[in-house]
Amino acid sequence: MVAKSRRALFPGTFDPITNGHLDIIRRSLSIVDELIVAVLQNSQKAALFSVAERIELIEGEVKQFSGKVLVRSFSGLLVDFAKNENCMTVIRGLRAISDYDYEAQMALMNKNLNPSIETVFLIAREENSYISSSIVKEAALLGGDISKFVPANIQKAIVRKVTAL
Ligand code: COA
Repeated sequence: MVAKSRRALFPGTFDPITNGHLDIIRRSLSIVDELIVAVLQNSQKAALFSVAERIELIEGEVKQFSGKVLVRSFSGLLVDFAKNENCMTVIRGLRAISDYDYEAQMALMNKNLNPSIETVFLIAREENSYISSSIVKEAALLGGDISKFVPANIQKAIVRKVTAL
């Protein structure tokens, strides 16, 4: 019998992708065969990078995973995007207990909207447990060294953006 290939979605804002997101992507690939990184359009958050720029930056970073990671954008409900992609498994990273309330609320709302959806949580590695895209951008804006938190190309893109502000 041929095993069915497993796919999952990894949704987020990714403004921009950080080492924390890349760690979740890498570890997800030990659970699923293919991962779709789903970049939310029209987020409530004010973004530094456009959706097209975020996708380009992510694509540059996920090349290392030999075609197992696809990058798409979506708007509207995550459950609708998941249904259209025929992919009802969602991966989310949990950094600290403070993430739990929001993540549980979102997972339960999604389950309510479509009972076929399952959310799988991966605990962030310790060294990524305090980083977020916003805090990395803020550090860069104030002239801090962000090389430990994002890949070199992302660092360059952030520095280029914040110096143009
Ligand atoms: N390492 C480092 N940082 C991490 C991380 C990790 N493992 N996991 C999350 N983060 C950071 C992100 O950088 C982000 O930082 P920021 O707030 O500074 O931008 C923050 O944690 C959480 O953001 P993210 O993972 O991008 O999620 P989000 O809350 O911006 O968006 C969606 C989550 C896209 C899944 C959600 O908003 C969604 O599904 N929206 C569509 C509408 C919908 O269906 N809503 C639910 C039902 S109504």
